[in-house]
Amino acid sequence: MSKNCAVILAAGEGTRMKSLKPKAMTPVLFKPMINWVTDCVTSSGIEDICVVTGHLGEMLVEHLGGKFETVEQTCRLGTGHAVLQAKEFIEKHADSNVLVLNGDAPFVDIDTLRNSLEYHEENGYSATVISAEIPDPFGYGRIIRDENSNLLKIVEQKEANDAEKEIKEVNSGAYWFRSSKLLAALDTLSQIREKANDGKEFYLTDAIEILKLSNDKVGAFVAKRPEIVLGANNRAQLAQLNEIARKREVDKHLENGVSIPFPNDVIICPDVEIGNDTVILPGTTIKYNTKIASNCEIGPYSTIDNCIIGEGTLVQNSYCYDSKIGCNAEIGPFVRIRPNCVVGDNTRVGNFVELKNSVIGNETKVSHLTYIGDSDVGEDVNFGCGCATVNFDGRNKHRSTIGDGAFIGCGTNIVSPVNIGKDGYVAAGSTIIEDVPENALAIARTRQTNKDGWVLRKKPYRRMK
Ligand code: UD1
Ligand code: CA
Repeated sequence: MSKNCAVILAAGEGTRMKSLKPKAMTPVLFKPMINWVTDCVTSSGIEDICVVTGHLGEMLVEHLGGKFETVEQTCRLGTGHAVLQAKEFIEKHADSNVLVLNGDAPFVDIDTLRNSLEYHEENGYSATVISAEIPDPFGYGRIIRDENSNLLKIVEQKEANDAEKEIKEVNSGAYWFRSSKLLAALDTLSQIREKANDGKEFYLTDAIEILKLSNDKVGAFVAKRPEIVLGANNRAQLAQLNEIARKREVDKHLENGVSIPFPNDVIICPDVEIGNDTVILPGTTIKYNTKIASNCEIGPYSTIDNCIIGEGTLVQNSYCYDSKIGCNAEIGPFVRIRPNCVVGDNTRVGNFVELKNSVIGNETKVSHLTYIGDSDVGEDVNFGCGCATVNFDGRNKHRSTIGDGAFIGCGTNIVSPVNIGKDGYVAAGSTIIEDVPENALAIARTRQTNKDGWVLRKKPYRRMK
């Protein structure tokens, strides 16, 4: 038997989002909805995934970056038609199961996928709808069961009669099908639609009734977590999804022993790891693949995006992107660490310091009002206040090296590329344009001259008193 596969429907336009992006790329907690779905499907052990693209499909294909197969649905004729576009893909998995999902329902979860598959296989069903019970079923397809509570069919909102509209069990838009049965049902469905030629949408949900009519066994698996059905049709609903996801992520970290004393004021995205006893203070956003070790204090008012932070580090009122920060470092307040930095252990960075594409060695201190870009700074280096690497000549960027133990006096300009040797000393106010040898003192400024009595002769203005 070949492996199970998945088809994700993402051709829809999402008109009410008023967006220039495909709907499935709309982010929930800064992560595009389609990635929530593909991550969940791959984590549940399904490797073969086909995404059906349509509206602004090229953008979606580019976003997926070749990780999954894609097929294009050139005209949006409904969910059944969308699945049919993946016919060749499904045929390759003809003797297994296919999971069909909506690309705009981000909260589908691994447990639900696994448990529903088990249910599907144990019962020998040709189709298993994943359903959920929700208080306000408006807009969703209703699950219609017979008196023995066996699944009969799914009725869409538009077609539901008054009694059906009362039903609170709805179709999540995720289903397991025996692949061959799905293809047969869709074939029948397309023939029916062609004959009717009434311009109605071609509903995937009708496949259930068709299978039932041909004596195939079908079922509905009620998911434990009703939010799996949730999607967003407009920005207001999107804001609700964000809040649900935000709260869920915060709760997960609280459960893991992370301290978040004011949990309503913190945003932690999915795919973030945080060690226990770390404190996350208000106004903090932690994004994309960040890993923070134990006993750190992050915030208040900080953004950490795609960073690795070692144990016991403090980040206060600062922004850190795409970088690695060691253990017991003190970052901030008011520091900006731009991409591609490696900041060592026991370092001190800030206040008002910017780092970019640089290495800062262990024990090094860059404490005040300094810019370090494109540089390799060794261990135990001390930067005085107001230093700058002059790394851009207007055309090209250049790199400088500052050796272990160097001391850079206040107000120094380091005009790259230069090399300051180990334990080199730079006098305050210097503009360094040549290498400084190991253990040397560099003074690169004009010597001070005092002009006696100058003020009495030339003072350009007089004080009132
Ligand atoms: C669908 C289900 C409904 C279910 C709901 C759950 C049908 C007919 N109805 O309704 O029972 O309760 O999902 O959210 O299936 N799509 C395409 N091509 C199309 C049409 C849709 O790829 O031609 C994609 C959309 O991008 C979306 C998904 O299919 O990701 C669902 O389509 P949508 O129009 O949102 O269906 P719903 O009305 O939500
Ligand atoms: Ca929808």
